Amino acid sequence: MKSCPFSVIPFLFSIVILLPLVFSDLHSDKQALLDFAAAVPHRRNLTWNPASPVCTSWVGITCNLNGTRVTALRLPGVGLVGSVPSNTVGRLDALRILSLRSNLLRGNLPSDITSLPVLQNLYLQHNNFSGDIPASFSLQLNVLDLSFNSFSGKIPQILHNLTQLTGLNLQNNNLSGPIPDLNQPGLKRLNLSYNHLNGSIPSSLQRFSNSSFVGNSLLCGAPLKACSLVLPPPPPTHNPPPPVVPQKRSSKKKLKLGVIIAIAAGGSVLLLLLGLIIVLWCLKKKDSGGTGVLKGKASSGGRSEKPKEDFGSGVQEPEKNKLVFFEGCSYNFDLDDLLRASAEVLGKGSYGTAYKAVLEEATTVVVKRLKEVVVGKKDFEQQMEVVGRVGQHTNVVPLRAYYYSKDEKLLVYDYISNGSLSALLHGNRGGGRTALDWDSRIKIALGTARGIAHIHSMGGPKFTHGNIKSTNVLLSQDLDGCISDVGLTPLMNVPATTRSAGYRAPEVIETRKHSHKSDVYSFGVVLLEMLTGKAPLQSPGRDDMVDLPRWVQSVVREEWTAEVFDVELMRYQNIEEEMVQMLQIAMACVAKVPDMRPNMEEVVRMIEEIRQSDSENRPSSEENKSKDSNVQTP
Ligand SMILES: *[C@@H]1O[C@H](CO)[C@@H](O)[C@H](O)[C@H]1NC(C)=O
Ligand SMILES: *[C@@H]1O[C@H](CO)[C@@H](O)[C@H](O)[C@H]1NC(C)=O
Ligand SMILES: *[C@@H]1O[C@H](CO)[C@@H](O)[C@H](O)[C@H]1NC(C)=O
Repeated sequence: MKSCPFSVIPFLFSIVILLPLVFSDLHSDKQALLDFAAAVPHRRNLTWNPASPVCTSWVGITCNLNGTRVTALRLPGVGLVGSVPSNTVGRLDALRILSLRSNLLRGNLPSDITSLPVLQNLYLQHNNFSGDIPASFSLQLNVLDLSFNSFSGKIPQILHNLTQLTGLNLQNNNLSGPIPDLNQPGLKRLNLSYNHLNGSIPSSLQRFSNSSFVGNSLLCGAPLKACSLVLPPPPPTHNPPPPVVPQKRSSKKKLKLGVIIAIAAGGSVLLLLLGLIIVLWCLKKKDSGGTGVLKGKASSGGRSEKPKEDFGSGVQEPEKNKLVFFEGCSYNFDLDDLLRASAEVLGKGSYGTAYKAVLEEATTVVVKRLKEVVVGKKDFEQQMEVVGRVGQHTNVVPLRAYYYSKDEKLLVYDYISNGSLSALLHGNRGGGRTALDWDSRIKIALGTARGIAHIHSMGGPKFTHGNIKSTNVLLSQDLDGCISDVGLTPLMNVPATTRSAGYRAPEVIETRKHSHKSDVYSFGVVLLEMLTGKAPLQSPGRDDMVDLPRWVQSVVREEWTAEVFDVELMRYQNIEEEMVQMLQIAMACVAKVPDMRPNMEEVVRMIEEIRQSDSENRPSSEENKSKDSNVQTP
């Protein structure tokens, strides 16, 4: 009984002693991060609350599995401004990944960052760092990206000691002097373009293409232009030739000769084949040339005459009931064929019903039967002409033909096989569906954004889409996003309460006027839909109906939280940073005030930035994960 208090005391004592030892590392990491945040102004609030746990609630932080050290810091594009003092990030000595790319950082890069002992990936591209590149590096360095900065001086020789280096991006800086001999076989990606480097390209790097070196006017040697033979004085070395060297040379020469013979042999066979093909082709042309040309004339002439007659003298009775094809369209059917085709209903939308029509020769098209067209024939034709011109883009569903009569308005589109984004996101949830993965979602978002940006730039300030929603984003075979229903809004009288309600910008609800910026808003809602997996109107027709932008805003206002994201995305590793970036883009698009929204070109650029980092960050961070788990065991 007496011994009890005595045994407790040393126990408590040891806890008091050990506690700071166990937590001191995370504590010092936290302090280093707070010092960094205090020293470097940032335009976007980082919400690094000292009271909340670093590993689970701080933006941009990844810890090791047992939550004792910070292993990755990723703050791309958060508006960090100014210089990074040494003794801040440089104290995070368990850091493996550091990404501060696409900020406004300037000044010298502290060498305590590049020499962090276990640093593997360093992404500082698209800032304005200047001065020399530090000459001490983590020996574990895997990827070094300092491109698009203002670094000057030489490329440090020491880089050739980094045996783990797989990627080196130094393009678009002011670096001068020679290229060090980097003979690491593991080096896979290299870009030194657009600097002021001089001298000859080391033979170890000649395996890279010239796009790794362009924009250095004083650089020479393969793969660029040959160096002029001024540099080495050859006669003295020629006089005493060591016996080994010439042997090697002659074997090389032999090898080369062998290669030349092989190439020559292969080449002549190819030439022979080519000659044969040409002869055969000429013979065939002579045979059937006449009819072939006639055929071509007949069909193409027939088609291009149709719209011409129709446009020129549209009032004339005989031409009335014709399908009007757009130029460059290779379809070969007429209205009768179309009406005879077997058709199935694809969907009923606010603009009308879409049918999938299978014609002879297995041609499949989509026919849209418009209802409530409120414009006359002339305006309709004019708008179609604009749509035909504007819609020539891989990310716009091409309109191939149209038909206009008093009682019937039809549009003929290419059939896009993979259905709509809406169906893929919301269809058959929970029931044996394959979830749309993150890569696909980025790809779809980017394609769609490009399509919209294209119609905005081609159509001019007045030409808007006016009805962007996930059912109008169709997916091609390789899951590229294509925008459909381009240019129909001004033709239609659309009732106010339709499925597109959740996509309408506040100003459109008030004024019913569409603009490029209201398209941006609708696209932002589509992005939010992709990120959250939620439909834009939570419970249509009910009082507590809340739209997606407001819901996301209310959740995110507290802090950037994972709870907004689609549960189906949670299974993928290392995408939080990209999801947060996409969320930021989406939130910018759905800003209440139209002028606060970016334009479509800017949206495209921002999404492209996510993709760029994607190809660089992903493999290495996965690698890191496996290494991390290895580190846990000892
Ligand atoms: C980058 O920094 C250099 C000086 O270090 C300055 O001359 C240049 O204007 C800066 N560029 C930008 C885009 O801020
Ligand atoms: C490369 O440029 C430096 C000056 O920046 C010069 O001293 C050196 O001689 C040049 N080297 C070659 C091979 O042209
Ligand atoms: C290197 O960078 C330049 C400029 O950004 C780019 O044009 C070129 O395609 C890049 N080359 C490689 C191999 O990535």
